[in-house]
Amino acid sequence: MARRLTVFGTGYLGTTHAVCLAELGYEVLGLDIDPVRVAALAAGRLPFFEPGLEDLLRAGLDRGRLRFTTSYEEAAAFADTHFVCVGTPQRGDGYAADLSQLHACIDTLAPLLHSPCLVVGKCTVPVGTAEQISERLSQLSPAGSGAELAWNPEFLREGYAVRDTLHPDRIVAGTRSPRASALLREIYARPLADGTPFLVTDFATAELVKVAANAFLATKISFINAMAEVCEATGADVTMLSEALSHDDRIGGRYLGPGLGFGGGCLPKDIRAFMARADELGVDQALSFLREVDAINMRRRARMVDLARELAGGSFEGRVVGVLGAAFKPNSDDIRDSPALDVAQTIHGLGARVTVYDPAAVPNARRAHPELEYATSALDAARDAHILLLLTEWPEFADADPEVLGKAVAERNMVDGRGALDPERWRAASWHYRALGRP
Ligand code: UGA
Repeated sequence: MARRLTVFGTGYLGTTHAVCLAELGYEVLGLDIDPVRVAALAAGRLPFFEPGLEDLLRAGLDRGRLRFTTSYEEAAAFADTHFVCVGTPQRGDGYAADLSQLHACIDTLAPLLHSPCLVVGKCTVPVGTAEQISERLSQLSPAGSGAELAWNPEFLREGYAVRDTLHPDRIVAGTRSPRASALLREIYARPLADGTPFLVTDFATAELVKVAANAFLATKISFINAMAEVCEATGADVTMLSEALSHDDRIGGRYLGPGLGFGGGCLPKDIRAFMARADELGVDQALSFLREVDAINMRRRARMVDLARELAGGSFEGRVVGVLGAAFKPNSDDIRDSPALDVAQTIHGLGARVTVYDPAAVPNARRAHPELEYATSALDAARDAHILLLLTEWPEFADADPEVLGKAVAERNMVDGRGALDPERWRAASWHYRALGRP
């Protein structure tokens, strides 16, 4: 009989993890406290856009390997290995992470754990959290210290969630016993057989790997965007600069893409929570550079608004602005801390009529920003616009025909916030083309 596993929390991480564990051949029960979400998943409907995941969800359901529930009692009794994938968003009142979902999950689950088991934390948490959770777990569980904790951070990217989960580039296991490490090795046997490195660490190191990775990626993006600021002051081209840097193997080209900067549910909140935690630990100086990383990132959004205003003739009053892109990145319908929507909303606030189009994120964007107008195609968003902004680099925007869009707009002004377009092609079609970090 296949090993049974549970997954607590069916957000992005939890849903992907549950579906992929079923794909690896396990019997999986996913739990969420939201009955609407559970019903949607049980009916084979993903509550978010992620390429390839819905097919695997349906396959898991059809094979009878995957189920969903709202009952902690059912989940606790179902398996003896439980993955915790609840959300740890930024707190409303500051930079720190809000751990209330994690605490609620552990406090509800632990009293139901009557026999030895492994609880595996996967969410992104401030360093030191696992230590506390481990104590709480053994205090509240009738199994006492038999209810063991492990910390196994997740590195999946939205848009590549299935690939990143089934073929991760490393698996980090923060464990306290050989038994826990052996169990995780067994569960991840397939990726390990494909050569994925398996690193056994203590709790604190496992927690830190995750936030350090996101802090590094954010730093790399802000580095090239700082260079974009210098390019703007000197007439240099940051796209060429980035490409030239990327040929140095020591630097590499990934996460060196200049533009409107990073957003989403992870990088921004993770660097802030990391700074808040460093402050508590008395090592705030060690991470003070992250304040600058955050500031550079936010300045890109302001610069985008300034460039657009310049092209709009100095003011947005009475101007029509078409926005291409609402998601925080392509291949996603996620609008959490989306640079695109931040810019769109600011420009709307400055008096423009703003119409947004995104291939996947319009329903989410409309719910969060009903004050903006929405279009059903790029062409529709371009209609009568005095200025067009490319804010999320979906492939269909990069491929758009400047002549076709040119016939729809009132004036041929384009600001490319993602360096996604070929300037020569757009200028040849009589567009006034501007881009962040480019002459
Ligand atoms: C990020 C990390 O890449 C994952 O490894 C991590 O597991 C995840 O956060 C998480 O903590 O859960 P994700 O938020 O899905 O994944 O997004 P990324 O693909 O990393 O992109 C983040 C942002 O950076 C996007 O807004 C993207 O447009 C921007 N970006 C990315 C750039 O501006 N330039 C680049 O060169 C790359």
